[in-house]
Amino acid sequence: MKHLLKLADLSREEILSILNLADQLKYERQHGVFTPYLKGKKLGMIFQKSSTRTRVSFEVGMYELGGYGLFLSDRDLQIGRGEPVEDTARVLSRYLDGIMIRTFAQQEVEDLARYGSIPIINGLTDYCHPCQVLADLMTIREYKGGFKGLKLCFIGDGNNMANSLMVGAVKTGMKFSIACPEGYEPDGALTEWAKVEGDFAMTDDPVAAAKDADVIYTDVWASMGQEGEKAKREKAFAGFCVDEKVMAAAKPDAMVLHCLPAHRGEEITADVFETHAKEIFDEAENRLHAQKAVLVKLLK
Ligand code: CP
Ligand code: NVA
Repeated sequence: MKHLLKLADLSREEILSILNLADQLKYERQHGVFTPYLKGKKLGMIFQKSSTRTRVSFEVGMYELGGYGLFLSDRDLQIGRGEPVEDTARVLSRYLDGIMIRTFAQQEVEDLARYGSIPIINGLTDYCHPCQVLADLMTIREYKGGFKGLKLCFIGDGNNMANSLMVGAVKTGMKFSIACPEGYEPDGALTEWAKVEGDFAMTDDPVAAAKDADVIYTDVWASMGQEGEKAKREKAFAGFCVDEKVMAAAKPDAMVLHCLPAHRGEEITADVFETHAKEIFDEAENRLHAQKAVLVKLLK
């Protein structure tokens, strides 16, 4: 494993090995043990979109590992003024030991890896969000004890989260169902792959998708960069809400996950959110542990 550009690049074994290390690092942190696996290492963190969790968990993660996280906003970097990514990659490779990037086009992340000479980590693109899904898988395993026989159901936009969750579910052997409105399906190539490699179902009926699910997952109707489509999306996604009807269709002990930020009253009701707040905030915490594991794997 040289980079984390998308989850599809990792084997099942690599994913499980990251999750095992994440569990270990979580245990150590809970017991006040902070091993400086990345002493003196420097991670550049390029953000072309907003972030609360990704930014803070990567920066704190690097600190706890004995290294340093450098926040780089596109408002300050020359990349925001049009300096090509292939030049940025070669320059930053001379200063840093790794780069985490949050941006729009997946191609930009792939190009950083192609032109740079240090590990690149995808901190979210329009296409996928692998770091989030590693934390999600860690949380599912914590609560359910494993993945075998589980059904993961995603309700909402076939966006970056849906794409990565689909890959994560297939790679770990979970069934995956998705309910999305017509025209908002996940990536076509990934869907075809999931149909062949996994147990995959797609519908426009949230209650049908949620039937007997062990994990219900949702995300915003309008992702970062889609703010202009807000009104159109509110219409298209009406009814695609994790509410008591959806929860009644799922298994009685189903957990609810949300990558956050959440919009109560849109993709999830306030009631369902608060009933499952423990799971959702454990999931947010696990970003830290899962990413520390990725950092150790890539930068040590
Ligand atoms: N879930 C997630 O990536 O959150 P941020 O946008 O706050 O980083
Ligand atoms: N789909 C959301 C995820 C945020 C973590 C977005 O891209 O804005």
